[in-house]
Amino acid sequence: KQEGRPLRQRQRLLVVANRLPVSAVRRGEDSWSLDVSAGGLVSALLGVKEFEAKWIGWAGVNVPDEIGQKALTKALAEKRCIPVFLDEEIVDQYYNGYCNNILWPLFHYLGLPQEEQLATTRSFQSQFAAYKKANQMFADVVNEHYLEGDVVWCHDYHLMFLPKFLKDYNSKMKVGWFLHTPFPSSEIHRTLPSRSELLRSVLAADLIGFHTYDYARHFVSACTRILGLEGTPEGVEDQGRLTRVAAFPIGIDSERFIRALEVPQVQEHIREFKERFAGRKVMLGVDRLDMIKGIPQKILAFEKFLEENPSWRDKVVLLQIAVPTRTDVPEYQKLTSQVHEIVGRINGRFGTLTAVPIHHLDRSLDFHALCALYAVTDVALVTSLRDGMNLVSYEFVACQDAKKGVLILSEFAGAAQSLGAGANLVNPWNITEEWAETFVSELNDTVVEAQIRTRQVPPPLPNKEAIERYSKASNRLIILGFNATLTEPV
Ligand code: G6P
Repeated sequence: KQEGRPLRQRQRLLVVANRLPVSAVRRGEDSWSLDVSAGGLVSALLGVKEFEAKWIGWAGVNVPDEIGQKALTKALAEKRCIPVFLDEEIVDQYYNGYCNNILWPLFHYLGLPQEEQLATTRSFQSQFAAYKKANQMFADVVNEHYLEGDVVWCHDYHLMFLPKFLKDYNSKMKVGWFLHTPFPSSEIHRTLPSRSELLRSVLAADLIGFHTYDYARHFVSACTRILGLEGTPEGVEDQGRLTRVAAFPIGIDSERFIRALEVPQVQEHIREFKERFAGRKVMLGVDRLDMIKGIPQKILAFEKFLEENPSWRDKVVLLQIAVPTRTDVPEYQKLTSQVHEIVGRINGRFGTLTAVPIHHLDRSLDFHALCALYAVTDVALVTSLRDGMNLVSYEFVACQDAKKGVLILSEFAGAAQSLGAGANLVNPWNITEEWAETFVSELNDTVVEAQIRTRQVPPPLPNKEAIERYSKASNRLIILGFNATLTEPV
């Protein structure tokens, strides 16, 4: 009966990620409100609408009571989301601990935490045990909702055991795993005590995806060097079984941003911002307040620039939007204080009675204000120390329609591989010389030249045909989202 129907009506997609695309806030015993979650993974996947997709994940909140759980499950069902309930202990050990204190810094080349950092969130072993347990809880929920023929698409470093646990339940399940962070050099990965177990678990998937070819290559090297398996051009082979490994760079729906620029509310914001910053060049940073984003380095480079270029002091403003994230992890708390301290010092040093050089906001902006800000920006600073892809750089380029600004982009962001030709690439660690020089040259740049460079919007990334090609090649395993059309929340 299903034969004649288009593929998307036949096949359900179960997206499994640690975080649901909506975060829940409790309003009463059995009432909840839902807000869109922050972060690249969510931005990238919100558009998976082509197929009948359901999203399984954590709603970002502890719900110990049954009444609350039932009500939240119902509210989420309307958004086609299915919750995994994680208690406080698990969140502390699995999410704050193993995911964000161990895997996240390691995958971004920041190394493993020192012993005393581990001590604050208990030992490595108990975090690892909690990580495994949480992955099992995700697997249980997937298994409960799985219908034959579904494709299960697992996401990110939080769920490296999931492919294995799912295959243990049902070896016929089609399972994909996609990493939204860099996969580091095998020399970095091999420092991780649980290196082999994690690799083997991920390899249980049918298809493994990364943002860039380099990350895919690092992963294959880790499998060959650490596990002694054979790497082939297609992926990794273990006793005759091939796991396909490939790069699928994520993109954005640039049309959505371009269309937003026509919305009256956005036009109004643009007018306001232009008036507010008249006579000054606008530099902009939009990041989660995360150590990988290199916010202190960026602000220190700006300080250096002001120090060495007094004539620019009242002619430029840096707007830094820093969205709070993982606020229970001590490293993030330290970072917040550090950034506040530096911003305070610079504003004290270079501010006047009527203007400060840095406007720093510890919160996110709504979509319309953000688009307007991108539109009025002269120089966007995306200067992550490491970043899987970084979609802020794409969003900025998409909004640079009327005004032609420039993008200063870290060479360590995945986006550098696609936007490299149109952006000014920098080493974000090199605060001393390169940056200050880059600032000066970008600010002095003629509009025309900047125009040419910034308008080089990245070519459309793999499209629907590519997806279908992969789906056929991997026995109808469909991994969407490489160029997922972003639309409204699921
Ligand atoms: C990155 C990760 C995502 C994560 C997001 C926000 O983009 O790759 O998996 O969801 O950051 O972080 P959070 O810890 O708040 O989910």
